Amino acid sequence: MIIGVPKETRSGETRVGLTPDAIKKLTKKGYQVCVEHLCGANSGFLDVEYQSAGAKMGDAQAVFGSEVIVKLHKPVSHQIAWMKKGTLLISMIEPFEDDGTISLLAQAQIEAIGMELIPRISRAQSMDVLSSQAGIAGYRAVIEAASYYGRFFPLMMTSAGSSKAAQVMVLGAGVAGLQAIATAKRLGAQVEAYDVRSEVKEQIQSLGAKFVELNVGEEGAGKGGYAKELSEEAKRRQQLALTERLKKCDIVISTANIPGRKAPVLITEEAVKGMRAGSVIVDLAAGQGGNCPLSQADQVVVKNGVTLIGWTNYAAFMPADASSFYANNCIAILDLVIQVQDSQAQDKKLSLNLDLKDEIIAASLVTYQGNIRLKKV
Ligand SMILES: NC(=O)c1ccc[n+]([C@@H]2O[C@H](COP(=O)([O-])OP(=O)(O)OC[C@H]3O[C@@H](n4cnc5c(N)ncnc54)[C@H](O)[C@@H]3O)[C@@H](O)[C@H]2O)c1
Repeated sequence: MIIGVPKETRSGETRVGLTPDAIKKLTKKGYQVCVEHLCGANSGFLDVEYQSAGAKMGDAQAVFGSEVIVKLHKPVSHQIAWMKKGTLLISMIEPFEDDGTISLLAQAQIEAIGMELIPRISRAQSMDVLSSQAGIAGYRAVIEAASYYGRFFPLMMTSAGSSKAAQVMVLGAGVAGLQAIATAKRLGAQVEAYDVRSEVKEQIQSLGAKFVELNVGEEGAGKGGYAKELSEEAKRRQQLALTERLKKCDIVISTANIPGRKAPVLITEEAVKGMRAGSVIVDLAAGQGGNCPLSQADQVVVKNGVTLIGWTNYAAFMPADASSFYANNCIAILDLVIQVQDSQAQDKKLSLNLDLKDEIIAASLVTYQGNIRLKKV
């Protein structure tokens, strides 16, 4: 069975679907791998490393003609046209973005697994791309904040004077938020965090940060461990309480999200006006409308002396590790959907086995035998 690894063509993307290390593991399992020339160039992986890991090189069209395609972003129309009926596609699918790609995949009879749709259950942890990439985003957001902040994060005492530790506030303590807390702590900042789901209090405290309670008048936990949208009154209370709180913060890492919806506004224009000049806000929700209406997707702007960072693809700033984690997530999926017959034999027989009764496959298989399986949200 041949796995194709194309070069990512989306603007700003530096990651790659499989790394040379991943290819070593896959060739041992009996796969052949065909990678596009320079597919890893932006993540620091050279063609020669892919070749010594056992991959063959090919052009884009040849790669898309493989039986399995592993890539980061969903394919565009001419790439789908290159794919053969029955190909297994493993990629992100952007389930909330209705641009016709999923219909094209169904028409072409591609069996597409959407990596963001893998359920957040214990058995699927090794396949959980949302977590593997969000952890990187949380880490990198703090590094970005530190590089734009004109002061130290830790308390510093030197013969030339001393500086106070930075006050960091993390808003939203999901995967990215928890990693941001841990990273800011490691850099020596004073860290506090807030989430509308009170169940994360213990996780925040276990990282050595203070849990901030805001009296918004309702609990924010929704289905499946995610947050729900608050009532208008609760949103107003939350914004007012944060406006006061943020006056004392130097750095805000904001990660609040509700899947499939516009991000909630937590930091109003008024709140930004109240912050000290020189403060930094990293809005990880900038691509979903922003937790602050002043932040702009993929830009750094300064308002009233406060720097707002709105990058939307932090994982692409760390492409080597991000690709390596992504590749491991994909190998775990392959282990689930590809059956190995005669695993001891030199020439192993591999075949696609999509068991729709399996909870993980049922949730993530977007198109199957010409039909769209994705449920509208
Ligand atoms: N395998 C597993 O069991 C597994 C793996 C990963 C994550 N999870 C769980 O999935 C859940 C979602 O994690 P995620 O990182 O994808 O979250 P996410 O990206 O959807 O949201 C980030 C955080 O923002 C918070 N938020 C939303 N609206 C808010 C508001 N108005 N004010 C403040 N905070 C707000 C959410 O509660 C969440 O913690 C978590 O419960 C996490 O523990 C489970």
